[in-house]
Order: sequence, then structure tokens, then C-alpha cells
Amino acid sequence: MTSRFLQDYFEKQYLLQNDARRIVRFSIQEQFRHRAAEGSNSPIRVRLHRKKKSFFMRKFTEGLVDTETIVEALDIQPGQTIIDAGCGTGYMSRIFSRVVTLSGKIYAVDRDSYFIEKLSEETEGGNIEAIQSDIAQLDGLDDRIADLIYAATVIHALSRPQLTAFIKEARRLLKPDARLAIVEIEKKETPFGPAIENRTSPEELVEKVPMVPLKTVRAGDHFYMQVFLNSEK
Ligand SMILES: C[S@@+](CC[C@H](N)C(=O)[O-])C[C@H]1O[C@@H](n2cnc3c(N)ncnc32)[C@H](O)[C@@H]1O
Repeated sequence: MTSRFLQDYFEKQYLLQNDARRIVRFSIQEQFRHRAAEGSNSPIRVRLHRKKKSFFMRKFTEGLVDTETIVEALDIQPGQTIIDAGCGTGYMSRIFSRVVTLSGKIYAVDRDSYFIEKLSEETEGGNIEAIQSDIAQLDGLDDRIADLIYAATVIHALSRPQLTAFIKEARRLLKPDARLAIVEIEKKETPFGPAIENRTSPEELVEKVPMVPLKTVRAGDHFYMQVFLNSEK
């Protein structure tokens, strides 16, 4: 099992919902911790295999974040251009797509070809362009095209150099005084999610992102959205 596979798996598993809309509480990280504590060597791959089908069919923050509050807080208008950075299944791109209408445009970006191919097929002919790319290197997109860059539960997984590269790219792609919106899981005990030390609070985010912080919005029971203005602090 490669570390890249595990990293992707951790990103995917922690935001899963089950079909009865209950949050799936199992945590592979916890399993690893228990196994380490027990000195157990039993194969975890079996459990990964059993869960694999369901986690690919599930949608990450869908049903967990308050999309109405997000759209309202971002004051999205018809005709706008939005980049959904690390779009996953692209469910939020589809919501944005309806709000900006056909006069607007959504670039849904993810490095995972599985989601991009699926989204591309399902939204063909509409105003969503699905792009397989690193969010820190969107060479195919022109400068100053975006009114908003939306990144939900992506930033916490970036290293410092990756975050710096992403912010540089965001500055290039955003129109002057356009906005960057970052959604993250709260940095406190929640029924799911990565280890607390791997989470970022709004205050820490404001320290890390060299843009003007506009507002922090509660975006669901366990999520917040931090909005920045594309302007130097
Ligand atoms: C936890 S999922 C969140 C997906 C979606 N934003 C949501 O709210 O449901 C994180 C997504 O970010 C993508 N991702 C992580 N790092 C990335 C990078 N450097 N460039 C592009 N996509 C990235 C992953 O492939 C994954 O689909």
C-alpha cells in the first residue's frame, strides 16, 4: 500500500456520510493507533478493501457543510467566475454553477482523475469546466479571471511550500479585490476528522494566508469558512 494511497484515503474517509445520513465514525487513523498500542500486525488492508466501494461513492463535505449559508455569505452573483479548488466530487461546483447561471463559469479543479473524469462527463455542455491539476499550478488559466476561489477541506493537507504556491497562484487568478474562501473543519473534538494537531483554526489560517481577512462564517455544525480579500495585508 503506498503512502500516497493512504494520504488520499485519509483525506477521503474522514468526511464520509453513510446512506442513513449518519456520519461514519470509523477512523483508520484510530485503527492504526490501537494496533500500534496492541503491537498488532493484523492486516488493515481487508478493512480498507471492504470500505473502498462505499467511500468512492460518497461525497465529501456534502450534507455536512451548510451550503446555503456559504452561498449567501459569499454573495455570489450571476455571471461570476469561480474556481472550486480541490473540488472532489464537484457537488459544490454544481451549486455554484446554478447561482452564476450560464453567463458565469466554474472551474472545478482536483488532482484526482477519478472525480474530474466523472464530473466532466456528468456536466458536459454546461458552465462547469473540470480540470485535473494541482491547485498550486493552474498554468492553463489566465490571470485575473476569478471572482472567487473556493477551497473546502483542502488547505489543511498542504505543506507550507504548497500553501505558499497556492496563495501565489490564487493572487494571479483572482481579480483585484476578489475573494478567497477557505472552508475547514473546526479545531476541536468532532465525531469525525483528522487529528486535532492536523487541523487549522481560523486564527491560524489568518496568520498563514497573506491576504486581508474579511470574515469568519460558521458553515455547518463542525465547519467554518474564512473569507479573504485578494489584497496584501
Ligand atoms: C477532503 S476532499 C474535499 C473535496 C471537496 N472540496 C469537498 O468539500 O467535498 C479534498 C480534495 O482535495 C484534493 N486535493 C488535495 N490536494 C490537492 C492539490 N494540491 N491539488 C488539487 N487537488 C488537491 C483531493 O484530491 C480531494 O479531492
